[in-house]
Amino acid sequence: MKAISYSRYGGPETLAFGEVRDPKVGPDSVLVKVRAAAVNPVDWKAREGYLDSIFDAVFPVVPGWDVSGVVVQLGFSVTEYAIGDEVMGYVREDFLSRGTFAEYVAAPVRTLARKPRNLTWEEAAGLPLTGLTAYQVLMKALQVKRGETVLVHAAAGGVGAIAVQLARHLGARVIGTASPANHDFVRALGGEPVTYGEGLSERVRGLAPEGVDAAFDTIGGETLKVSANLLAPEGRLVSIADGDVVGYGGRYYWVRPDAEDLTRLADLAEQGVVSVHVSDTFPLERAADAHRLSAEGRTRGKIVVTVDWDAEDAAEDV
Ligand SMILES: NC(=O)c1ccc[n+]([C@@H]2O[C@H](COP(=O)([O-])OP(=O)(O)OC[C@H]3O[C@@H](n4cnc5c(N)ncnc54)[C@H](OP(=O)(O)O)[C@@H]3O)[C@@H](O)[C@H]2O)c1
Repeated sequence: MKAISYSRYGGPETLAFGEVRDPKVGPDSVLVKVRAAAVNPVDWKAREGYLDSIFDAVFPVVPGWDVSGVVVQLGFSVTEYAIGDEVMGYVREDFLSRGTFAEYVAAPVRTLARKPRNLTWEEAAGLPLTGLTAYQVLMKALQVKRGETVLVHAAAGGVGAIAVQLARHLGARVIGTASPANHDFVRALGGEPVTYGEGLSERVRGLAPEGVDAAFDTIGGETLKVSANLLAPEGRLVSIADGDVVGYGGRYYWVRPDAEDLTRLADLAEQGVVSVHVSDTFPLERAADAHRLSAEGRTRGKIVVTVDWDAEDAAEDV
C-alpha cells in the first residue's frame, strides 16, 4: 500500500511517500481503509525522536494516530464491527510503527468508535485524539462541575477548542487563552477569550477575581506557573504539556485510547454539542507540509491529510 513513512528520526524532510508493506490484521483489530488522518503535535514530536524514551520505534514508521475511514476486513474475534462500517479512531499502540498516514491501518477495536454521521471525513479524523484528551481531562482528571469557572489554554487549538465546548456543555464558565485573531473563534465556541503572554494573570483575575476552579494547561512552563497562581482555594490543575505540574500539586495527563469515551464523543458530535473546525487539508503526499504547519504552533482547530479513493477500488474493498 501507499503510505508516508520515515526510516530515521529527523525533520519533516524524513517523511517519504511510497510503498510500505500491507498491515496484518490482528484478532482484535479491523482493517480501516483511510479517508482522512489528522495531524497532532505529537506526530512531529515523535518524528523528531522526542518520545524515544517512552516509545520503541520500529522503522520505517508510518506516522499518525488519528483516523477516519471504512472497515474493509475483520480480525477473527471482532464482533463489534461489520465490513463497510464508517469509523474514526485514536489508533495508538505502545510503540511507533504502523500509523494512520497510509491507505490502510489495522486498528484495535479498543481505539475505535463509529463515525458521527453529521461530520465530514476530515472533521471525524480531527476528533479522536483531541476530543479524548479534552473529555478525559475535564471529566476524569479535573472533574468539572456545573457553575464552575474553568481556564483553558490554547482555546483555539485542537485540544482547547473541544475542551471549551465540552466544559460549556458541563455547565461551566470558560475562560480561554488565545491571540486576538482567535478571540471571535473562541467566543463562538462559548468561551470568554483572553490574550496570553505578559499580563495574562491580571486579565484572568479581571474576569474571575476569586480565581478559577479548574485550569487545563496545554502549554507548560510560564503558562503552567501562572495557572497554578490563578487557582481558587481547592482549585484543580491538570497539564498535558508539562510534567512539572506535579510540583504545583496538579496532575499530568496522557490521553488513552478508549472506545467508550470515543463513542460518547461521537454522540456529542451528533447532538451538535461538539464540532470540529478543520483549518487546513493536505493530500497524503504532502504530509511533510502538514507537519511543518502544525509545528508552527498556530493551528486553529485541526490540520488534516486526506487519502484519495479510487471509487472502483473502494467498491471492490467494501
Ligand atoms: N498529554 C497528552 O495526552 C496530550 C494530548 C494532546 C495534546 N498534547 C499536547 O498539548 C499541546 C496542545 O495540543 P493541541 O493539539 O491543542 O495543539 P495545537 O492545535 O497545535 O495548538 C495550537 C494553538 O496553540 C495556541 N497557542 C500557541 N501558543 C500559545 C500560548 N502561549 N498560550 C495560549 N495559546 C497558545 C495557538 O493560538 P494562537 O494562534 O491564537 O496563538 C493555536 O491555536 C501540544 O503540546 C500537544 O503535544 C498532549
